[in-house]
Amino acid sequence: MPNLLSFLRCPETKTPLHEEGGELISENGNRYPITGGIPRLLVPTKTEEEERVRKLIQAFYEQFTFPGYDGIDSPGILMDKAGKSGFGKWVDQAISPFATVLEVGCGTGQMTNYLGLVSTRTVIGTDMSGASLALGQGFRDRFGLSNVHFVQGNIFAMPIAPASVDVLICSGVLHHTPDPKGGFLELLKLVKPEGKILIGLYNTYARIPLGIRQVIFKVSGNAFRFLDAHMRRKDVDQSKKEIWFADQYRNPHESWHSVDEVLGWFAESNVKYLSGVPDIAGKLPGEGVDMRLFEEHPHGSSFLHVMNQLQWMFSIGREGGLFVLVGEKQ
Ligand SMILES: C[S@@+](CC[C@H](N)C(=O)[O-])C[C@H]1O[C@@H](n2cnc3c(N)ncnc32)[C@H](O)[C@@H]1O
Repeated sequence: MPNLLSFLRCPETKTPLHEEGGELISENGNRYPITGGIPRLLVPTKTEEEERVRKLIQAFYEQFTFPGYDGIDSPGILMDKAGKSGFGKWVDQAISPFATVLEVGCGTGQMTNYLGLVSTRTVIGTDMSGASLALGQGFRDRFGLSNVHFVQGNIFAMPIAPASVDVLICSGVLHHTPDPKGGFLELLKLVKPEGKILIGLYNTYARIPLGIRQVIFKVSGNAFRFLDAHMRRKDVDQSKKEIWFADQYRNPHESWHSVDEVLGWFAESNVKYLSGVPDIAGKLPGEGVDMRLFEEHPHGSSFLHVMNQLQWMFSIGREGGLFVLVGEKQ
């Protein structure tokens, strides 16, 4: 793994690592195994309370490997899925074929592997769930994606060199940590100046109907599951639906965030807002269905953001209420 090694750092001392006898060793002698082709660089979060939550979340995602891989057994099917969702395709179109991409909280690595189908990119996926990473690595190995790498690590002790990646993607992850803003600031350190960061979070407004269903399912012992639009879908395998249901309704920890809150994180850390999915204040001239994620979009007012987010209850709210903001590090 010579190419990968240049990006890896000891999660404790942040110093370079070298490979010796199936292990990675830091300058001061910390040793980390490589098993199943995956460097195991996971170390605990510093504070006790945060580590308690992290362990609960890790146990959850060791059991519920998300997103489900059933039926995704070829690069063609992965491409088809990304094309249908729109977002994956737009991310792929926006990223240069020569970029270094880091997906943090990659889960089973579907996005990581998909972006790695462009063989001139270097794509790294990190997550703390060993079971999820094993699924991503299995796909990577079966289809010979030698430019794709999976690494086990903790967002709050990242094993990646500072200012080393062109694009950082972290979607559906930080709201499962006790300190989403702190996580964002940690991840930003890994991005090169003028590099892009894509952050996907549960939206405060869009998730209200789901929050109501969470209460209904809790008091009714998961009866009335048909109330959830995703569970009624005919085009999704039952096993994937079960994983999705657990992720949305039985997750041990989640928080909700507004557009203006995340724009505030951007402003405080000198990140220029580029775009949002769904868009937060209108499209660019000539922009059709396909969004140009790395071009600067209208910012809009806080009032417009609230109005749009209220509408999201009836659009993205049906599929979990996740929104993505894209920024450029200055
Ligand atoms: C809902 S899944 C999202 C997976 C993928 N990003 C997607 O959008 O399909 C959340 C992932 O975040 C990971 N995660 C949560 N907290 C983490 C932490 N502190 N360090 C590393 N990974 C974490 C979990 O293990 C899980 O795989």
